[in-house]
Amino acid sequence: MGKKVLVIGSGGREHSLAWKLSNSPQVSKVYIAPGNAGTALVGENVDIDFIDGKKLLEFAKSKKIDLTVIGQEAASEAGVADLFRKNNLLIFGSSKEATRIESSKAFSKDLMKDESIPTAEYKNFDKPEEAIRYIKSKSLPIVIKADGLAAGKGVVVAENHAEAEAAVRNIMVQKTFGRAGNKVVIEDFLEGQEVSTHALSDGHKAVMFPSSQDHKQIFDGDKGPNTGGMGVIAPVPWVNKESMELVRKKIVYPAINGLKNMGAEFVGCLYPGLMINRRDIRVVEFNSRFGDPEAEVYMRLLDSDLYQLLENCAKGKLDEADISWMDGYAVSVVLASAGYPETSSKGDVITGIEDAEKLNDIVVFHAGTKKQGSDLVTAGGRVLNVTATGKTLEEAVKKAYAGVELVKFDGMQYRTDIGHRQQPE
Ligand code: AMP
Ligand code: GLY
Repeated sequence: MGKKVLVIGSGGREHSLAWKLSNSPQVSKVYIAPGNAGTALVGENVDIDFIDGKKLLEFAKSKKIDLTVIGQEAASEAGVADLFRKNNLLIFGSSKEATRIESSKAFSKDLMKDESIPTAEYKNFDKPEEAIRYIKSKSLPIVIKADGLAAGKGVVVAENHAEAEAAVRNIMVQKTFGRAGNKVVIEDFLEGQEVSTHALSDGHKAVMFPSSQDHKQIFDGDKGPNTGGMGVIAPVPWVNKESMELVRKKIVYPAINGLKNMGAEFVGCLYPGLMINRRDIRVVEFNSRFGDPEAEVYMRLLDSDLYQLLENCAKGKLDEADISWMDGYAVSVVLASAGYPETSSKGDVITGIEDAEKLNDIVVFHAGTKKQGSDLVTAGGRVLNVTATGKTLEEAVKKAYAGVELVKFDGMQYRTDIGHRQQPE
């Protein structure tokens, strides 16, 4: 009998993880809770909310699941990994305590300071007047961050002192993000380009992924509001081996060791978001999960057996030799529904995915999709990820856009410049 896996989440990230796991020679069955219309093509969707630890545990026990994989960070935040471990079930994903590296920016910055991890100068505040006094002493622009999770909206890059002060009041006095605004982090503005890195960890060791680069703004040329991510490339051609070695030694290992020394071993995917310029590399934030859409390109490039890797992490037996990557590049272009990122349009009929996948090296991962009768329809903001691989970045980009051309739904939005950025000054 092959292994049975449960993946927790419902985005493009989870479709790509479930797809790669279903391709493992060891895996006989993949369940996805709750999944989407795409995950149903590679496994069986289970209608359980990703924060409902009790139901997830019951399900995993009843189906004799060999390994559970957390995709969606809300599950880690809700303590699902802790509950599974307490019941001696194997799970890949960070504990509630270790997840603080993402869920509390004040905690994360203090950890970076303690471990000498390069990041922007900062100060944490729990009183608005003190935060405002500090801002007045600083040069501009200045960055104001709500401490807790605020659906990506709790960060303000202020160009003047009035804007910075308004952000502090909004977060700490008006409590726009609720308890997430009990504290703020005020930090210096970093120049450069944002680059994503990922590392799998078993709590002690880490294996590094190649670099990747998301494109967060909704419109071409990095214009318009931030989104969850509109497209991604991997690896980033101008990020060299020395830089990645620095990330491993000065960022990933110090973070994992720092957490371990606090008794919060990090078992899962550590995702440092970096700012890189010609002078240095600094951490903008840590995430305790795979990026989305980063996971989608990583799963296209990973050569190793994902099941084995994640099981080794969960068992505390990770070895650096476990991981290998295909040559070349992967690109993903996100197709979003009308109104995204402010709103999303549901129920628009999607066509053309099968035609796109008939092209060479194209895989389309679903995010906000569902079946309505025999139709596939939109069910969220980010709808699909059209991924392609190629020997060169240019080839992968060209193939991905050839796939995009074939997919259609009313109000479809996408960026036409994924993979076109130049090396930073
Ligand atoms: P975070 O949630 O901390 O990643 O912040 C969200 C976004 O705000 C980042 O992806 C950056 O684009 C921007 N940002 C955050 N911190 C800084 C900083 N210190 N300097 C420049 N941009 C920043
Ligand atoms: N790619 C952005 C994120 O996963 O946070």
